[in-house]
Amino acid sequence: MSRLWNVAVAGATGAVGNQMIRCLEERDFPVKNIKFLASARSVGKTLPFKGTPIAVEELKEDSFKDMEIALFSAGASTSLKFAPQAAKAGCVVIDNSSAFRMEPDIPLVVPECNAHRVISGPGIIANPNCSTIQMVVALKPIHEKVRIRRIIVSTYQAVSGTGQKAVVELRNQITDLLAGKEPEIKVYPYQIAYNCLPHIDVFLENDYTKEEMKMVNETRKILEDDSIRISATTVRVPVFYSHSEAVYIETDKKITPQEVKDLLRSAAGVVVLDDVANKVYPLALTAEGKDEVFVGRIREDISHEKGIAMWVVSDNIRKGAATNAVQIAEIWAQRAGR
Ligand code: A2P
Repeated sequence: MSRLWNVAVAGATGAVGNQMIRCLEERDFPVKNIKFLASARSVGKTLPFKGTPIAVEELKEDSFKDMEIALFSAGASTSLKFAPQAAKAGCVVIDNSSAFRMEPDIPLVVPECNAHRVISGPGIIANPNCSTIQMVVALKPIHEKVRIRRIIVSTYQAVSGTGQKAVVELRNQITDLLAGKEPEIKVYPYQIAYNCLPHIDVFLENDYTKEEMKMVNETRKILEDDSIRISATTVRVPVFYSHSEAVYIETDKKITPQEVKDLLRSAAGVVVLDDVANKVYPLALTAEGKDEVFVGRIREDISHEKGIAMWVVSDNIRKGAATNAVQIAEIWAQRAGR
């Protein structure tokens, strides 16, 4: 029988934390004991694991004693404070925040792209940004074959990426507006219902947002190629789950749309949905609740002879966060349990 592990989920009451728990259940991760951690606000709550209610505990310095795997999704400041302590206590930490992603010594892993970076033993592994994960899963096979020189991407990102509070805000704003009431605006700088906000995370000195620069820097780190030129525009849209992306690439060697389709049809974690004559292309609602990255509208870029355009969609809470983290844990556990 394979070895069983003591697993802690930090941020268990949040949108991603909850999905991490569901993924551990669905994928039948070999769990010996499980611990759910959140802020002091959540003490007294229980969350089910395989039908058994488990009490939520306050995340504290000593929470990781006897734990072996810690999945973190409680925000960057919480990760900065507690992830090193968890690693010191002997855990492998798989951290969904941006806190450690660009640290040179910390692996940033998407299993379909760079599983070889998963460490053995305790330490921190960073889980990339949701919009980066789905893009690199689609682009890695193309990069391997014909080398991508440049990427231009525009995203259409679901509110669940901001957390449970944003899901509630979009729902409330729609309800209020349909009832003729003034919507309450708390999470975003503007109303998100029936709107698009070209502003995710903070603006930086170069006038890009932090979310946009995450796509630039994380993609280069995961594809292990700093020479790729990347420009991103990230937009929040009134969709609950799944991010969609319009991705344009310029390659070193020419590749045809048919070759891209063939390549992606045999790529791990990718589903090609591309039959425009029958109106087949990926939708946010297609990807919701699924673990794959869906790619369609694959076509030659009419403005560049070595350019390809495509539409890439994935569930931001699943492959964009929780599933990717649990996949990393699976690889780690397989290697450590040998
Ligand atoms: P809590 O529910 O107790 O506030 P989301 O991304 O959906 O907003 O969820 C954030 C998660 O991170 C929640 O589980 C939240 O717990 C947890 N969290 C936020 N701040 C802290 C903190 N300071 N210590 C521990 N957990 C935290």
